Amino acid sequence: LCTMAGSDRTWSLSAMREWESPDYEPSLPVSEKSNPLTRDIDRASASCIVRMLQACDAQMFQEERGDTYQRLLSEAVVKTLVDVAKRVELTLKDPQDSLVVLSGCGTSGRLAFLISSSFNRALRELNQSLVYSYIIAGGDRALLSSQEAPEDDPKQGVLSLKKVCEGKKCVLFIGISCGLSAPFVAGQLDFCLQHPEVFTPVLVGFNPTHQARDEPIPGCTFTFRSVVQRMQELAKSQKAFLINPAVGPEAISGSSRMKGGSATKILLEVVLSAAHAATFKNTAITYKGILQHMRAYKKALDITYAESEGIAALLEAAGQSLRCARRVCYLGWGSLAMLGLIDASECNPTFGAVTRDLLCLRLRDYGDVRGFISGGYRELNNSEGPLISLREKNKSMPPLSQQWELSTKLLLNAVSTGAHVLKGKIYQNHMIDVQPTNSKLYCRATRLLQKLSGCPQSQCEETLLRAVYRVDKLTVDITSSDIGTRIRTAKNRAKVVPLALVCLLTGCSLLEAESHLELKPIVREAVEVCLS
Ligand code: F6P
Repeated sequence: LCTMAGSDRTWSLSAMREWESPDYEPSLPVSEKSNPLTRDIDRASASCIVRMLQACDAQMFQEERGDTYQRLLSEAVVKTLVDVAKRVELTLKDPQDSLVVLSGCGTSGRLAFLISSSFNRALRELNQSLVYSYIIAGGDRALLSSQEAPEDDPKQGVLSLKKVCEGKKCVLFIGISCGLSAPFVAGQLDFCLQHPEVFTPVLVGFNPTHQARDEPIPGCTFTFRSVVQRMQELAKSQKAFLINPAVGPEAISGSSRMKGGSATKILLEVVLSAAHAATFKNTAITYKGILQHMRAYKKALDITYAESEGIAALLEAAGQSLRCARRVCYLGWGSLAMLGLIDASECNPTFGAVTRDLLCLRLRDYGDVRGFISGGYRELNNSEGPLISLREKNKSMPPLSQQWELSTKLLLNAVSTGAHVLKGKIYQNHMIDVQPTNSKLYCRATRLLQKLSGCPQSQCEETLLRAVYRVDKLTVDITSSDIGTRIRTAKNRAKVVPLALVCLLTGCSLLEAESHLELKPIVREAVEVCLS
């Protein structure tokens, strides 16, 4: 579309809203749907990619229409934000034995860390008690490198929640799962529901409740969806809160680090800022005030993309580096550098970004996109202590810092996503080289193979398994293995999905598929060559 219309054009309203149709990929939740706007992003130029990302991000702020999805600016959402902000205000006014806990997996956990740190810093500057804590699945090492497997562990979620809340009598728990899907968060929410005398649970995510993941969680009697349903019931009496507007499908299908992360940052900052203003500046928490603050983020988005030519140039240069087997490095300080680290850390599972390094697994964390923070980690002030000891200058951010951060996040997401697109790491708008290293990603990989090959589910599952275990014939041991074992094996394998796809489309052996991919590392090209 972008190529046909010219990069200076914008999309029509109906194209922007095509994903909302009930017929559009009906079996998938919004967070997993493929965005019609980016269908051909893998063939787009740098400036076209930026236009596409701009249009996708703009979907975050579209108004609710009819009785379809509730959106960021919908009345019901803004009202809930007001209610949650008032709960935070209560905590701030009576911090003794109270806590606000933000928790999530991957980017959601990193944002929990970033936001809780920034609001604790504000409290410290006012000589107030600190009330915010964060939890990230996989512990502090997951702040800087992808750790997908802990996302599947609800028990670990509960243990980490108990640990941070020890001795507290009143806890507002904010669980973030963009896809309403992470068992780690589901376990924590379930625990809160079992202990209502201490915990009030809040869920932040970007699917309607009926699209919450309903897959059984091994060892648990609940699913994410059943937890959400219980919360819905309690929400009527404000004993639980659900903040789950739809922001539209991600530009790269399922890549919730993008809009999911941006919307998480917006929602939580709006809530916590309103609570701080009410407590320390006597500014009442109002519907209008919250709405106005949300609109300030929309403005930040517009201002950012007003620089689309510059962004496209940066993206082109970054793509060029990756194509030449070089790197993209982000250098910065304070929270902006942290956003660089967050952006870089998610490239690995999204794009299989370090495949050339996978032969040498020690290098896994030193990927194609790397973040550096001036002075090191000390300023991060993470709960497990310095990840390595370094120094840091403690610079307070000026006013409007939250919008500045959002702008930085959008820009970095555009650069890393665009550069990987230009390197050929995306097939249509799918993460073709996704590493199936947790149950969500494993299911996504199978679904992707089905979509791109047109083969039946059982054949796709079988071929994926062959690619994970690198065998042409599956043994009984392999076919009877549980998902956990498969995921652990997949962690040490490169190009699992591309290999499986080439095998499915051409019927060749794994060895042949490997040599096809060596000759043509861009999967779309490899497939086209195989088929011609
Ligand atoms: O499994 C990896 C991942 O998809 C990350 O990309 C993402 O940040 C994380 O899971 C959390 O996802 P969610 O917020 O939907 O639980």
